[in-house]
Amino acid sequence: MKLLRFVAMLSTVGVLAGCAPPERPGVQGDPVRGKIALTQYACQSCHMIPGVPGSRVYVGRPLSDLDKRKVLVGTLETSQANMVRWIRDPQAIDPHTAMPNMGVTERDALDMSAYLLSR
Ligand code: HEC
Repeated sequence: MKLLRFVAMLSTVGVLAGCAPPERPGVQGDPVRGKIALTQYACQSCHMIPGVPGSRVYVGRPLSDLDKRKVLVGTLETSQANMVRWIRDPQAIDPHTAMPNMGVTERDALDMSAYLLSR
């Protein structure tokens, strides 16, 4: 039964997804601290963020599957360095973006990106 095997595979993925974020080679920063920082800066007031409770908001896109995307905000190649740049100063990349500069520190941005890239 192919379907049964597929369902079994899905549930394994679900179990794995419930665990702590996996270590990702090449990703710096502390994803656990990053998750806390995301809520401290209230990023979830505009974005749905996997694992972070909040309303269903769509001001910005949901911050999910970022590690699988090739491009950030339509122009940047997806990399941790580019994500940190965007989080710290979005207007430097897109002067017209609705995302505000929230004065995020380098360390907080690095930890946030570590969390977002592990989701
Ligand atoms: C006032 C609303 C608002 C807040 C607050 C906000 N953002 Fe954004 N964010 C946006 C918008 C608008 C975009 C660009 C368009 C989009 O992705 O929908 C964006 C884009 C992004 C992207 C790129 C997403 C993609 O799909 O390419 C990331 C990453 C991101 N924001 C992270 C954050 C983080 C981290 C915080 C908290 C420090 C934050 N945002 C706070 C509105 C916001």
